[in-house]
Amino acid sequence: MGSDSGQPRGQWNSGTGFILAAAGSAVGLGNIWKFPYITGENGGGAFVGVYLLCILLVGVPVMIAEILLGRATRSSPVRAFQVQTPRSPWIGVGMIGVLAAFLLMSYYSTVAGWALHYTYLSVTNSIHGAGAEQVQGMFESLTSSPLVGVVWQVVFIVITVLLAVAGVSKGIERCGLVMMPGLFVLLVILLGKAMTMPGWGDGFDFIFGMRFDNLTAAGVLEALGHSFFTLSLGMGAMITYGSYLRRKDDLVSASLATAATDTVVALVASMVVFPIVFTFGLEPGAGPGLLFVTLPTALAQMTGGAVLSVVFFVMLVFGAVTSGIAMVEVIAAFMIDDFGMGRRKACLIGGAGVTLCGIPATVSAIWFGRVDYLVSNWLLPLGGLGIALYVAWKMDRALRRNDFGSGSALAKGYGIWLWGLKFPVPVCIGLVFLHAVGLI
Ligand code: PFF
Repeated sequence: MGSDSGQPRGQWNSGTGFILAAAGSAVGLGNIWKFPYITGENGGGAFVGVYLLCILLVGVPVMIAEILLGRATRSSPVRAFQVQTPRSPWIGVGMIGVLAAFLLMSYYSTVAGWALHYTYLSVTNSIHGAGAEQVQGMFESLTSSPLVGVVWQVVFIVITVLLAVAGVSKGIERCGLVMMPGLFVLLVILLGKAMTMPGWGDGFDFIFGMRFDNLTAAGVLEALGHSFFTLSLGMGAMITYGSYLRRKDDLVSASLATAATDTVVALVASMVVFPIVFTFGLEPGAGPGLLFVTLPTALAQMTGGAVLSVVFFVMLVFGAVTSGIAMVEVIAAFMIDDFGMGRRKACLIGGAGVTLCGIPATVSAIWFGRVDYLVSNWLLPLGGLGIALYVAWKMDRALRRNDFGSGSALAKGYGIWLWGLKFPVPVCIGLVFLHAVGLI
């Protein structure tokens, strides 16, 4: 089916291409940066257990719903709601998604820019041999001298925009086919090294040891909220990617494979970070600085640290790029479908807009915090709730059932999936939302 702009609608070339693109969107800073540091802050093991349950019981059903809505309507997030319920308030759910993608990209690119900067520092061998204070100083000078941060941020946005301009199969799919296996290889190299380190046992125990007394209600809700962020849910990324999926492909198995890949990467990334941190007697609960201060401090002292830090930060960049493209694609697909724009123009305008809104996030930590609060606490849970409710209660039943079964080896799971989407899933997302906005 074509889009309103008269261009043929893009399509994934293969089921594997789709899974790697979807996994590319899911695997990113959320897995390698955020997951280890929130696990560190919440005391490890029990938090990880709750997180796994959230992925399986809430994340996977919503991911299936998003991909299904996109494929059934062959539309980007806003038009997906227009197709079946024109001029209804449901369109607002799609709008929230596009707004969330735009705002998220505006500050995701800040952190991705840091990853690029650290890659540069690693390649030029500027981290190895530095003392703890020097490493701390590197991060402080990066965050306090906006120009360097902004330059790297813009480099990141340009890379993702150019890949999105190249199109669904030639840009996004190819990028996933190259960068995701690349990321897995780099991760395995790092895991191999971590396993030989004296802190391996302590690091492993920290991640998998069940210490329920460290788990708070806030930690449970944080696990649930993060399962949304890490699977790229609630902002129409999976609706958009689903809209390029062929009817013969199995979306249920693809969702499970995507969620499994995302989870394995998050766990393995933690199994790399914590043993290194423990080997050097550093603090595992250092928060956002875990990857940009604590880890480089350890890498700077390690034998082979010069090479390992290149490996680590290139891996982080791969994850960030494949996720950033998904955000650019949500914005571009909206402009292509709803305003009849050409792909190149839509990507360039989207990229320019993101850059303008993104610079304040790099320059001001306060702005960064506010936008992050708005996106993570309001827009994502609202978008996720809206999509779950729409697909469960409002979408045409025949269309929903047919699309779920189309190409699926797991079509028998329809009833249980729908039940989950109707009752427990909205209740769980509702709780995250109420907690995040301070009402419970
Ligand atoms: N899932 C990505 C991560 O964990 O870093 C973040 C993300 C990417 C969210 C793309 C939403 C999205 F559309």
